[in-house]
Amino acid sequence: MDPRVDAGLLHLMECARQVAQHSYAPYSNFRVGAALELTNGEIVTGTNVENVSLGLTICAERAALVQAVSRFGPEIRVAAAAVVNLNQAASPPCGACRQMMAEFILPEAPVAWPAADGMRTLPFSELLPLAFEMKLK
Ligand code: THU
Repeated sequence: MDPRVDAGLLHLMECARQVAQHSYAPYSNFRVGAALELTNGEIVTGTNVENVSLGLTICAERAALVQAVSRFGPEIRVAAAAVVNLNQAASPPCGACRQMMAEFILPEAPVAWPAADGMRTLPFSELLPLAFEMKLK
């Protein structure tokens, strides 16, 4: 286990595991849960919701972000995040979710996910070092 996985992240993982029970994944059977700790102290969770068109599927991380903004508004900031799955699979957040997290997460926020040798964690800025941004002149 990564030594940076502290009690707070373990609690977030447990929240993510609980929400993964609600996953709607009839096409992949890959059941994912995400938990976000916000800077206001609230924890918000989300799970993956698949669609027969496949492309319309929403990942757990993005479901959690949408839930967080819906509940607390556009000023939310994510202080820590955990993603788990119920398939015992090593699985970091996908690229699309990293890009969407970039919108709301603090660069130093730890992000934890299941790796081959237990949970791994990295500061978000190392998980997505060069996020797309639009700086118009
Ligand atoms: N999935 C997530 O929920 N999060 C990710 O970061 C990657 C993939 C979901 C989408 C789909 O329902 C299933 O996992 C298989 O790709």
